[in-house]
Amino acid sequence: MPTALVTGASRGLGAVFADRLARRGIDLVLVARDRAGLERTAATVRGHGAVAEVLVADLADPAARAAVELRLSDADRPVDMLVNNAGFEVSDEFVNSELRDLQTQIDTNISAVMSLTHSALPGMIARGSGSVINVASFAGYLPSPGSSYASTKAWVLAFTDTMAASLAGSGVGMIALCPGRMLTGKHKAPDSPSPLWLEPTTVVEQCLRDLGRGRTLCTPGWIYRTVVGTLEMPRRSLRAAAKLAGRGRTQQRPKADAQGDTQSFTRSPSLNGVA
Ligand SMILES: NC(=O)c1ccc[n+]([C@@H]2O[C@H](COP(=O)([O-])OP(=O)(O)OC[C@H]3O[C@@H](n4cnc5c(N)ncnc54)[C@H](OP(=O)(O)O)[C@@H]3O)[C@@H](O)[C@H]2O)c1
Repeated sequence: MPTALVTGASRGLGAVFADRLARRGIDLVLVARDRAGLERTAATVRGHGAVAEVLVADLADPAARAAVELRLSDADRPVDMLVNNAGFEVSDEFVNSELRDLQTQIDTNISAVMSLTHSALPGMIARGSGSVINVASFAGYLPSPGSSYASTKAWVLAFTDTMAASLAGSGVGMIALCPGRMLTGKHKAPDSPSPLWLEPTTVVEQCLRDLGRGRTLCTPGWIYRTVVGTLEMPRRSLRAAAKLAGRGRTQQRPKADAQGDTQSFTRSPSLNGVA
């Protein structure tokens, strides 16, 4: 059975990822701070006949995060898919927010994504298969005045863009999931149906489908997709021009193994076809 590690799996979108992956026969490692929430998700996963491992960790704390990094780099128990989903928003105005909370927002939304991906990728590259899903946000494209949350998600988008290009041909896929408003967490359902509000199960299914198609960006919901598609146009043209000029980022290949041998990447992504 392939194994996926999902962060922020105690509730919300992370719990939905765990559920939908378990239904596909994928075993799960579930990470978050709330043990009771993780156990609830684990019960759902086991109900689908998959194995669920619970790993309680505060991803904003580098010492606690180390246990998750170790799990991801354990060659005897390979993790085939990493879902960097855990995240939160300091919603107060930047100047009214505690610096400590803003730092925790960066540690959770950025540092954890970077360090967990750094732990997971060498094994995936050496095996020539695997995938990473980074949960960004539509806010990363169109920040609104007030909270600094959008800037952390803009980093997730830029990071995924760069890494996905670097991984081309390695057999390892990476995708940024860019949802708009979802009915999770503190959000309450609107009084009347609106295309701006996304249903988490639809979001996860769309993401797994796009990953399977080898896409590097998933924007569920036609309104969000139209806006992002328009904003992405100049970047797509620039990327195509860079490729034509032979100066694309895909020329830099990650190292394939601990010895530092550079691999000639020719494999097509596997396990990305989870859809
Ligand atoms: N909801 C939306 O409208 C929306 C829109 C766009 C993007 N997103 C993004 O989607 C992702 C999931 O959001 P959601 O709506 O499902 O939020 P949620 O219901 O609040 O769930 C957040 C998850 O992240 C975990 N988490 C937060 N801080 C953590 C930490 N320091 N260490 C470990 N786990 C931590 C939480 O677990 P514990 O509390 O148990 O640790 C929880 O499982 C986030 O990255 C969010 O930014 C959400």
